[in-house]
Amino acid sequence: MQAKPFYVTTPIYYVNGKPHIGHAYSTVAADVLTRYARVRGRNARFLTGTDEHGQKIERVAAEQGLPPAEYCDRMIPAFRQCWEALHCEYDDFIRTTSPRHMQFAEEMWRRCEAAGDIYLGEYEGWYSVADETFYTEKELVDGKAPTGRPVERVKEPSYFFRLSKYTDKLLAFYESHPDFVRPEGRFNEVKSFVREGLRDLSLSRTTFRWGIPVPGAPDHVMYVWFDALSNYISALGGDRAPLYAEFWEPNARAVHLVGKDILRFHAVYWPAFLMSAGLPPPSQVWSHGWMTVNGAKMSKTEGNFLPPEPIADAVGADALRYYLMRDIAFGQDGDFSHQNLLARYHGDLGNGLGNLLNRIVSSIVPKSLEGRIPRIDASALGDREKELVQTAERAAKRAGQLLDDIAPHRALEAIWELVAAANKYVDQTEPWQLAKKGDTRRLEEVCYAVLESLRWLSVMLWPFLPEKADAMRTQLGLPALMPTVGLDAWPSAWGGLVGGTSVRPGAPLFPRFDEDQQRAIYERLGAPLPDALKKTSAGTPAAKSKSEKKMEAKPEAPKKEAAALPEGVISIDDLVKVDMRLGLVKSGERVPKSDKLLELKVDIGEPEPRTILAGIGKHYEPEQLVGRRIAVVVNLAPRAMMGRMSHGMVLAVSDDAGLSVLSPDKEITPGVKVK
Ligand code: MSP
Repeated sequence: MQAKPFYVTTPIYYVNGKPHIGHAYSTVAADVLTRYARVRGRNARFLTGTDEHGQKIERVAAEQGLPPAEYCDRMIPAFRQCWEALHCEYDDFIRTTSPRHMQFAEEMWRRCEAAGDIYLGEYEGWYSVADETFYTEKELVDGKAPTGRPVERVKEPSYFFRLSKYTDKLLAFYESHPDFVRPEGRFNEVKSFVREGLRDLSLSRTTFRWGIPVPGAPDHVMYVWFDALSNYISALGGDRAPLYAEFWEPNARAVHLVGKDILRFHAVYWPAFLMSAGLPPPSQVWSHGWMTVNGAKMSKTEGNFLPPEPIADAVGADALRYYLMRDIAFGQDGDFSHQNLLARYHGDLGNGLGNLLNRIVSSIVPKSLEGRIPRIDASALGDREKELVQTAERAAKRAGQLLDDIAPHRALEAIWELVAAANKYVDQTEPWQLAKKGDTRRLEEVCYAVLESLRWLSVMLWPFLPEKADAMRTQLGLPALMPTVGLDAWPSAWGGLVGGTSVRPGAPLFPRFDEDQQRAIYERLGAPLPDALKKTSAGTPAAKSKSEKKMEAKPEAPKKEAAALPEGVISIDDLVKVDMRLGLVKSGERVPKSDKLLELKVDIGEPEPRTILAGIGKHYEPEQLVGRRIAVVVNLAPRAMMGRMSHGMVLAVSDDAGLSVLSPDKEITPGVKVK
């Protein structure tokens, strides 16, 4: 059965500042979900836009000496350019100052009024302009809004919305729509809030002018949230327009992506307004978490709002998209860390995906197979190939389900199982040896299996990495992906690559940054330089840049007196001195004349594998360790053993029964810290 059309929206962003990484997070997620729906052949629509009315915008415009309308006009290009730089291709960009929006917001007002849900009264209480939210005395914390922002005392005539009338209706609606809010934990919070009973909501203001005039009462402007929430339907042309019939409930799956701070507006007020106006609520409100940056909260006072474009400039938009979608679990709070971004870039993207393509398309196929996709008999697969096909099928099925459930981070995990399996397959089948031996038949089978895995990956990764996935496809001799409504292109059948087609080797997808380039990136992005990059080649600490000093999260907390700790107990500061990382053993050999010592080359996310000597030769053959992930200490001073140098230590446990190196039970990215 063809799935329903899919309508996904981001919040409309306040234009009191330029877009930052928190905004980019929702917009990238919406773009990924739209592209995914399109690959599945679904009819999809992606809306974003800007929230331009209200006291907050009026004040910033005044600070800049501009009329608010002009101020807003000047801010819009920053949003459009940012989304373009991140490869976010929205179908519509709604501005709340546009006539099409204002007309529908007025229409919503009239309908709620006609339903008897709007009445005139007087509001007396607290208001936070920064939050554009009314607060009761009880909600204040130390005289401030619960968000920590300042509040002002307001006393003015105001229209009210009879929200109290909707308490039971909303609870009944939640009951009959158990998927309405996700994640579930936040849905429970919403329900408890409503169960406590709702108070009528002040719906208009009279003490400033920058808003949509209330129909029939032009001395009032609409409360900015009533105005803003209407955008999701005003952008469809109102509820009588064909786009509404196509993309709103009950004909479509309409999903709002919102940050957790604005969930109440979307999960309580918005459905109540819609019920009052006689319209169905959206299908789902998906609330994601909040992001800190290198451990610090982004805030106006800190002046540390992180702009996304310079990051996309430095590492590529697709790498940034990948990082945001992979490193931060959708729905939970997370941290944006430049260091993790580069670790993911070098690890998952460079070593994992880029190398897989490079090893086969730029190396073996041109050198040993005349640059063509081999022709093989796909019906006669060997055991290893069958296993790879099964992994690909499992990855595609799980990634599809997880994207349907809006869990992009988990979908990427599922897809990376195929990346890891295909790399392992190459390591095990050793195509270079097959080429050396002249075993062309087997070489063709092996290369085909890897190339076909890459084709599957190019489709599954397209929603996340549209540019790189198409670059992969070009290298595989395939056309760019062109999703078509009604045509499900998600991979499901092995053997799509046509034998005889020429591959087109191209530049590496994710070229490695050497240490100097990495330093330049941190410097350019004003991010704190990781310790590993602080040493110059002579081993002296590099001077800190000005911007680095500024960005460093917080001054270190005063260290606890060592004397205060009981003997034998170490502080966290002592523990973090030991840099333990996950390594991937790339190769190994016995050290001659020693029955104990193995020399291992271990990938710890650095440009070159580390040489580490380990006294485990009585328990392991080097080959048993190749391809294994193991824990290693990487900041031990180098040590000479049997005339060779060791640059780290392998962690292992032993007892009478034997010795075992420490390995994780999942394919975690090499180079990450053991903690
Ligand atoms: N204009 C309202 C939304 C109206 S929707 C009808 C608004 N705008 S906002 O610009 O302040 O925030 C937009 C979105 O950015 C919100 O979903 C908010 O949660 C998100 N984020 C702002 N800072 C964020 C982080 N630090 N991390 C993740 N998302 C963050 O609210």
